Amino acid sequence: MTQVSIFVGSVYGGAEELAFTLAEEIKSNNHQAQVFLPGTVNDVKNATHLLFVTSTTGAGDIPAELEALYLELTNQFPLLTDIPYGIITLGDSSYDDTFCGAGKKIDVLLQELQAKPCIDKLEVDACEDFEPDKPALIWLECFLKTL
Ligand SMILES: Cc1cc2nc3c(=O)[nH]c(=O)nc-3n(C[C@H](O)[C@H](O)[C@H](O)COP(=O)(O)O)c2cc1C
Repeated sequence: MTQVSIFVGSVYGGAEELAFTLAEEIKSNNHQAQVFLPGTVNDVKNATHLLFVTSTTGAGDIPAELEALYLELTNQFPLLTDIPYGIITLGDSSYDDTFCGAGKKIDVLLQELQAKPCIDKLEVDACEDFEPDKPALIWLECFLKTL
């Protein structure tokens, strides 16, 4: 049984709702899951498996609460050597260059902290998928196989 720590960034609640759906699915696969809104550096350091679920706001920005954690991680720079992680980003391709920018920023930071991507990140485009659950649950199946 694996514990998955889910860190959430959401503006209007879509990513947050998705995170709780994913946590239930993880638990129904006989693993454990905890949702952090958004959690602390210690929560990240103590995690055995990381999952970031975030929307994108502004111009490719991370939602405010998760951004605070992102900045603390950037400042404290705790090495997360080989901790496996996955990322699901919600975005909208009509934002062109900044499409799913939040997930891209988190991906770069986690790699700098030496965490290990266990699967390619998922970018959910609101123009194509009004409900993010469907692509996210398909992606989660692959993520769970890596646990
Ligand atoms: C003010 C605003 C700015 C946004 N900026 C971006 C952006 O730069 N890039 C992107 O891919 N999506 C952007 N989006 C789209 C949201 O990320 C997308 O609608 C997401 O599903 C919202 O999820 P949430 O309910 O968790 O906040 C923006 C949406 C709003 C309302």
